[in-house]
Amino acid sequence: MAVFLKGASLLLVPSRRALAALPAVRLCSSGDQYKYIVVEKRGEKNNVGFIQLNRPKALNALCDGLMVEVGCALDAFEADGDVGAIVITGSDRAFAAGADIKEMQNRTFQECYSGNFLSHWNRVSTVKKPVIAAVNGFALGGGCELAMMCDIIYAGEKAQFGQPEILLGTIPGAGGTQRLTRAVGKSLAMEMVLTGDRIDAQQAKQSGLASKVYPVDQLVSEAVKCGEKIAANSKLISAMAKEAVNGAFELSLAEGNRLEKRLFHSTFATEDRKEGMTAFVEKRKASFKDQ
Ligand code: HXC
Repeated sequence: MAVFLKGASLLLVPSRRALAALPAVRLCSSGDQYKYIVVEKRGEKNNVGFIQLNRPKALNALCDGLMVEVGCALDAFEADGDVGAIVITGSDRAFAAGADIKEMQNRTFQECYSGNFLSHWNRVSTVKKPVIAAVNGFALGGGCELAMMCDIIYAGEKAQFGQPEILLGTIPGAGGTQRLTRAVGKSLAMEMVLTGDRIDAQQAKQSGLASKVYPVDQLVSEAVKCGEKIAANSKLISAMAKEAVNGAFELSLAEGNRLEKRLFHSTFATEDRKEGMTAFVEKRKASFKDQ
């Protein structure tokens, strides 16, 4: 894995050999350079993976190449033992204005169905490490869906969330109808999906879509701070906590409680659980080893 200094932060570019050595890792664009995203490690301890969508002329429209690169970067961060949380962000103007309409314009049903169009986007929701979306500007269509695949959404004051696919003669296809409904409830989700109307940052927070709203220029650093807070805990236990919360979206209450109990019991097989409780009793700060 090659690491280059870029300004004050580290630019992480996985080497072809390192990527090839990992299971289920796709190679990125040629020359081992990311074309559509900027990838760094941030935070005082460089333990927060940072992905910035970087296609400004198209308002970060999520073309296939961009999403392949996001998958590559997530694979690399997942395999990086130092990284405890990941932040995905865009620009001040746009988190992402959706899937790339120009790329989709002439696609046929046959191509979409046979090629399982957009199935690789799912990588964002299968990462074990916690992922924070820092959303400034437009988060529309696939952009809103990408944010909702993340575990926490922080919104900048000027953020706008929407599922305008209906205006293009299609419907959300990367979880929008499901995740938005679970996040904001049926009435608002229906209204947004059926009219294409957007909601602003405050509405997103009130409805439970976003957990915090920050001034535009503070958003990214606050998201990184949240990532640092998460990364200070045991990565192993954080993954279990994430799995348990995600269970609430998939399972009945009884099944979800059973999953939670199993995971809770499992923490007692870890050194970090022992360390956490021992540190409390000894009135010192816990030092987790992710074991
Ligand atoms: C491709 C896009 C794009 C998109 C913007 N652009 N959104 N290109 N796909 N989704 C391009 C424009 O074509 C233009 O480039 C440039 O970005 C700037 O956009 P403008 O429209 O000139 O900017 P503005 O007037 O400020 O309007 C901003 C906007 C508008 C409101 C965000 O661009 C817009 O409505 N975009 C589409 C939003 C949308 O419908 N999203 C859902 C997509 S479908 P050029 O070179 O042409 O000037 C989707 C399906 C998901 O996401 C299904 C599963 C993933």
